Amino acid sequence: MGRVAELAGVSVRTLHHYDEIGLVRPSARTSAGYWAYSAGDVERLREVLGYRRLGFGLHAIAELVDDPATDAVAHLRRLRGLLQEQRDRAAAMVTAIDKELEARVLGIKTTPEDQLKVFGAQLYEAIGSAYPAKRRTEPRIAARIWEALGDARTILNVGAGTGSYEPLDREVTAVEPSAVMRAQRPAGSAPCVAASAECLPFADQSFDAAMAVSTVHHWPDPVAGLREMRRVARRVVVFTYDAGTTGSLQRFWLTRDYLPEFADLLVGWPSLADMTRAIGGRAEPVLIPWDCADGFFEAHWRRPEAYLEKSVRRAVSVWTRVGPQAEQRAVDSLRDDLSSGRWAERNRDLIALAAAELGLRLLVA
Ligand SMILES: C[S@@+](CC[C@H](N)C(=O)[O-])C[C@H]1O[C@@H](n2cnc3c(N)ncnc32)[C@H](O)[C@@H]1O
Repeated sequence: MGRVAELAGVSVRTLHHYDEIGLVRPSARTSAGYWAYSAGDVERLREVLGYRRLGFGLHAIAELVDDPATDAVAHLRRLRGLLQEQRDRAAAMVTAIDKELEARVLGIKTTPEDQLKVFGAQLYEAIGSAYPAKRRTEPRIAARIWEALGDARTILNVGAGTGSYEPLDREVTAVEPSAVMRAQRPAGSAPCVAASAECLPFADQSFDAAMAVSTVHHWPDPVAGLREMRRVARRVVVFTYDAGTTGSLQRFWLTRDYLPEFADLLVGWPSLADMTRAIGGRAEPVLIPWDCADGFFEAHWRRPEAYLEKSVRRAVSVWTRVGPQAEQRAVDSLRDDLSSGRWAERNRDLIALAAAELGLRLLVA
């Protein structure tokens, strides 16, 4: 065991642990009668260590390496693809950082937009640290999601962020591409795999259910990601936004009167029908309570002063995506209308509402 540990660069304790939990068991015997690793055991150990290095949890790894449909070559191919993806992402970031360093040497000021582009699709690498302070589980929305999950025992949480809405009484595996978000998951939370929705590194039907909360609009290809969820799980539950309805901008005073640029973010966004078709399910409206605990974009619909707070805005990607000019204009204009009483006059009807229909939907399949 000592020799194998040395070659693999892990401790003997780790190998003992893998043995104890049945992940990699030495199945051969030495002439002196000690347990030893066979060629097959070593192959399995290599797969386990490869997935471990990519951030997979031990439960997820056990399912992967026990899958009879995946042979050694298929594992090597998958590991290769995932490592290449990681390498490409790191290379793109190095190039972008080099560019910014060059610009700084030349005294060229980079705009906040340019700085965010450094991280490309990983917007959350840039805004992630503001996230945990304002984004948390809203119990009334959680109740809807958990009810839809039914009696599912194993659950995949895609675009998991810091782990809001993950049921504590089930076996959860999280998927999250942003290293910043993964690093902010609280100690003891579910194991988290570094991967994207569009290419889930799991065999067909490996989970009882897959869930995705407030994340689909960040995926480069939402329909492909939803199909992947459908492929790996027997049940799918998605909390998302219906952008297809005409007048979606009109539903919420913030986008109607202050931030029309929100419409630009919806270009190319799939319709509700496309999304439900991708998972083969149905959509149910989710009304947002006036005192919603999760600080997503619409959460403060009856508490307009909240949008004047920078920390509230920084926890929501919409504000970063519309750019600093639109953000500043919207906030200034809202501040003026709140102090002049114009906001109250225009939105008089809202004060009596306990919950509002703002286009949020639960997709269930
Ligand atoms: C608004 S957060 C939601 C996080 C969490 N589900 C919650 O409800 O708090 C969106 C998350 O989607 C992740 N994300 C972005 N692109 C993704 C992709 N292609 N696949 C899976 N997740 C992605 C982001 O890194 C971010 O953590």
